[in-house]
Amino acid sequence: MNIIKLNAIHSTNDYLKELLHIQLLENFTVVVAEHQTKGKGQMGAVWSVEPGKNLTFSVLVKDAVPEINTIFNLNVAVALSVAKTLEYFNVPNIKIKWPNDILTGNKKTAGILIENNIGSNGAIHSIVGIGLNVNQSNFNGLPKATSMSVEVGEEFNKEQVLHKILEYLKLYVMAMQSNTTELLWDEYHLKLYKKNIPMTFEKNNSKFMGIIKGVSRTGQLQVQLEDDSVVEYSVKEVRLLY
Ligand code: BTN
Repeated sequence: MNIIKLNAIHSTNDYLKELLHIQLLENFTVVVAEHQTKGKGQMGAVWSVEPGKNLTFSVLVKDAVPEINTIFNLNVAVALSVAKTLEYFNVPNIKIKWPNDILTGNKKTAGILIENNIGSNGAIHSIVGIGLNVNQSNFNGLPKATSMSVEVGEEFNKEQVLHKILEYLKLYVMAMQSNTTELLWDEYHLKLYKKNIPMTFEKNNSKFMGIIKGVSRTGQLQVQLEDDSVVEYSVKEVRLLY
């Protein structure tokens, strides 16, 4: 496997994208950096963590799905591979907060940013960016963040954690591409944060109560409202208040 290790870079997602423009890269090429100066989060947010303590990396996944309308399957495979890795290292109570934040209890341990590109021949290349808090112990000002070491009470070898994620990622991507996709969805739903539990949501600056029933195959959150109707929301539309 081609693993490119960098000390500091703007963003591993952006760097991998730039590399793709100038050279042919093999499937599952990885770019990992000790520090990102312009780490990107979902919805234009910034991903900023303590340099050197955590894992910030991106993986190129070529032709993950044959058609873009099934691309959320890749989110499922990636979220599960991170969740499984955390469980492998005995991090307790792992949940997937839709669409693909990885929580320990109700605190975020990892974030995922997948950027897809459709080539002129229709092939889909996905840049899978993962930020996993491994050994950071101080989350001043971020009460909803945690790390593997905070949760387990020991330091982890980042190299070992990275290799475990990559191992699971390949397995889950393969499983997703075979006919076991439904099993992955079952696993995703089993780990889905607050499934079947009443909670508060925010849409257009107003709050409402609802119950998460699941996630549709296209990645929409299915929420049962107080009048018992079930409505589907896209990532941009609604926020979970937790
Ligand atoms: C989120 O939860 O908002 C997603 C965070 C994704 C962060 C990772 S760190 C490695 C990769 N490079 C980036 O610039 N972002 C992703």
